[in-house]
Amino acid sequence: MQTVTVALGERSYAMHIGQDVLDEVGTVLGQLSVTKKALVVTQPAIAAAYGERVLHSLRSEGFTAEAFEVLDAEDAKSLSWLERIYDRAVELRLDRRSPIIALGGGVVGDLAGFAAATFMRGVPFIQVPTTLLAQVDSSIGGKTAVNHRRGKNLIGAFYQPRVVLIDVDTLQTLSPRELRSGLAEVVKYGVIAKPDLFELLEANTTEGLLHDAALLTRVIRDCCQIKADVVAADEHETGIRAILTFGHTFGHAIEAAGGFSTYTHGEAVSIGMVWATDLSQRMGLCHPELLIRTKRLLESLGLPIALNGRIEGIRDAIFLDKKAVAGRLRFILVEDLGQVSIRDDAPSQLVDEIIEEGLSARSLSKEEVPIRAT
Ligand SMILES: NC(=O)c1ccc[n+]([C@@H]2O[C@H](COP(=O)([O-])OP(=O)(O)OC[C@H]3O[C@@H](n4cnc5c(N)ncnc54)[C@H](O)[C@@H]3O)[C@@H](O)[C@H]2O)c1
Ligand SMILES: [Zn+2]
Repeated sequence: MQTVTVALGERSYAMHIGQDVLDEVGTVLGQLSVTKKALVVTQPAIAAAYGERVLHSLRSEGFTAEAFEVLDAEDAKSLSWLERIYDRAVELRLDRRSPIIALGGGVVGDLAGFAAATFMRGVPFIQVPTTLLAQVDSSIGGKTAVNHRRGKNLIGAFYQPRVVLIDVDTLQTLSPRELRSGLAEVVKYGVIAKPDLFELLEANTTEGLLHDAALLTRVIRDCCQIKADVVAADEHETGIRAILTFGHTFGHAIEAAGGFSTYTHGEAVSIGMVWATDLSQRMGLCHPELLIRTKRLLESLGLPIALNGRIEGIRDAIFLDKKAVAGRLRFILVEDLGQVSIRDDAPSQLVDEIIEEGLSARSLSKEEVPIRAT
């Protein structure tokens, strides 16, 4: 098992990453100052696959533990599902030190996290992420939220978990599409901070990675370490934390313009990273080879590198994005692997060009993909 620490003074916490971590939930919680009554927020399929193991682990450490299943969809991040969690917590007479445990992906984590942040003004929160996206991204850093009908994540709080427990074996049951979606974030970490992670992905197939628990643990640990360091430096995203949004200015707009159903978050971010690298290249910041290499890696992971059809509203969505400050768009631009900067001086004409070309783009043809020198 590998451990990464998120250094936030008194609120510091550990992330434990490895195999059979689900069986350690009770032991780890037993070492925290919590009362022995736990509520596990999860979803039906996750409960069926892993719920018993987590509940058994908790009960064998003397916890009274119960699973509460929420809707298996983004719509679970709503005030009505939040209220149902509060109702159950009240019925079970949870107290101010009773832990709420999120067992699931980012939806469960965001919802359960906000419930934990607000129930009795804050109860101990534990993340047990089971999607790759949640393991490398959403379970770290304390962003919790539910959606408002007018917008995603509009109601939320920064609330750090007490501990994050990552069992890499849970990824074996994840759908290939969800796995790929998480891999887009892994590529992102490679670009923004860790060239050797990027190279490791270039050198291994997804299948190979999935079937090598030690390698998978290392990859997830590396991502967690990067996010942990960035969060420790800038918890509330007033500065450097923005580098984690590489590919997301375009990505969020693609996701929103597609009505959040055409592309998964990771797929939209994949195209967004291609466009952000293209923008960097057109601004003369990086070598064109980096764009080719990035496209080749994303494509080899099964991620889209171009839109698969015309969708309207990308440009409007970009300017509506909450990250557009005073009409100026903020982009994370790349100079080389591991070297990015936060910029608000990208010429809007270039941004328009990239979107316009993207709308009529096609995937990189085989002839365009250069053979890599050995
Ligand atoms: N808080 C943050 O910092 C942050 C960061 C990024 C994304 N998010 C949020 O995360 C959410 C997306 O999270 P996600 O991509 O994990 O999706 P998700 O939580 O919807 O999970 C995807 C699907 O996989 C299923 N699933 C989860 N684990 C499984 C497993 N081990 N085996 C089989 N099926 C499994 C889920 O039931 C669901 O159907 C969005 O709401 C987004 O806003 C939050
Ligand atoms: Zn993301």
